[in-house]
Amino acid sequence: MSKNIKNICCIGAGYVGGPTMSVIASHCPEIQVNVVDVNHERVAAWNDKNVINLPIYEPGLDKIIEKCRGINLHFSTNIEENIAKADLIFISVNTPTKTKGIGAGQAIDLKWVEESSRIIAKHARDFTIVVEKSTLPVKTAQTIKDILEATSKNKDEKFYKEFAVLSNPEFLAEGCAIENLENPDRILIGGSDKESVDALTKIYSKWVNKDKILTTDLWSSELSKLTANAFLAQRISSINSISALCEMTGAHINEVAIAVGTDKRIGSSFLNAGPGFGGSCFKKDISNLIYLCNHYGLNEVSDYWQKVLDINSWQQERLIEIISKKMFGTISEKKIAILGFSFKANTNDTRESPAIYICKKLIEEGAILYIYDPKVSNQQIDKDLGNTQKKESNIEKSCIYSSSVEQAVSSADAIVILTEWDEFKKISWESIYKTMRQPAWIFDTRSVINIKKLKNKNINIWQTGFGI
Ligand code: UDX
Ligand code: UDX
Repeated sequence: MSKNIKNICCIGAGYVGGPTMSVIASHCPEIQVNVVDVNHERVAAWNDKNVINLPIYEPGLDKIIEKCRGINLHFSTNIEENIAKADLIFISVNTPTKTKGIGAGQAIDLKWVEESSRIIAKHARDFTIVVEKSTLPVKTAQTIKDILEATSKNKDEKFYKEFAVLSNPEFLAEGCAIENLENPDRILIGGSDKESVDALTKIYSKWVNKDKILTTDLWSSELSKLTANAFLAQRISSINSISALCEMTGAHINEVAIAVGTDKRIGSSFLNAGPGFGGSCFKKDISNLIYLCNHYGLNEVSDYWQKVLDINSWQQERLIEIISKKMFGTISEKKIAILGFSFKANTNDTRESPAIYICKKLIEEGAILYIYDPKVSNQQIDKDLGNTQKKESNIEKSCIYSSSVEQAVSSADAIVILTEWDEFKKISWESIYKTMRQPAWIFDTRSVINIKKLKNKNINIWQTGFGI
């Protein structure tokens, strides 16, 4: 018999916690789901009557929020109260890379996970299942267990407390989070307490076929998440490394990707060359993997994964060099339109977006950027480009926000496409090109332009991995 879950609390109303809890609430109307967060502004945005103001953009999320919010899905800052009520608590707080101290630049900062564990230990009552949703270093569950157990053994505690810790990493990709949550490739649950594993399995089996629910020990579950992200990132570095060779040899990366990907053993997805991977996970998780390997003396293994990160940085550096070279070696005072700032299409997330590094470098070279992204706010771009010190620098005139593609590209010397938004695929490039200052260049880092369909063959277009 598994424990009957009636009340769930999720700590962290972010890109993972928000959508995941919304989908659980929509499939489990008998369960009350409370998503709590320390960030008042974020919680207010989740509660905004107008779903256009939700803090994150994910296709399909607004519909679920409209259906469940206020019924069995609630967003609040009442962390303690909701922990006390919960039978099951997800920890879905951010786990950034450490910026200082031991392991800086590689190890994960577990500050928020530890803090969450302490709050749970203090306020939970009776038997509570604690589930790691955040991506964590292997053996973090032990840290959580130690903190929880230290409290539950405390004789002075007013309430009886007992905990089981499970690992249940989330594999959703932003931009298609709802699709991934509704129809996941697999659900992974790690842990040894059978009743708790069964209770969590029961929740997912409301909409996920049982044979897709995998159960493992805690450590294998934690390591699987890091490994999955490392493998995905490795594919992108692999295809990007070959894109450079294509440009040298006259081969075309898209054709190579199709030819290679039709081999069933390799598979066709995740073979799009581009400006390098971004997002909150890949770099952080590989850095963490490298740190772990070094810790266990596996230096060859850590060197191997380090190369995946190196190729990613190199891809961005070489793009900047190509842009500069094609524009007669100087981009100073030239107008460059940047199309797309998010790290991938269909999200307003800019964490580790290649656009940040590329834009900063172009500004350093003296270019004047006109940036357009359909979903990223100007304030976010300001923050990412460090425009908070506008007054002391000349950054204000180096970076102008545009509210449409037309506004950004008009009289530009170059366009750099950095995100594969659908909107860009529908642009009439021949008409746009005419509005640019000649000789103009279009740098299409994401292959959104179908060159074969263009009637005017005299447009200067450069695409990643396309040898001329
Ligand atoms: C997730 C995962 O949890 C992370 O491990 C993974 O690697 C990336 O994705 P994500 O949901 O994207 O994180 O992070 P974010 O959008 O920053 O949301 C985390 C939320 O937790 C924030 O809203 C933050 O305010 C909240 N938080 C953080 C708390 O409520 N309490 C804390 O103590 C710390
Ligand atoms: C990733 C994992 O896919 C997901 O399983 C995990 O839970 C979190 O990390 P996410 O970062 O949201 O998800 O998006 P993803 O689609 O994996 O893209 C990551 C980066 O790789 C983006 O910058 C994207 O543009 C880039 N990418 C992806 C490519 O450059 N080429 C590809 O073929 C695929």
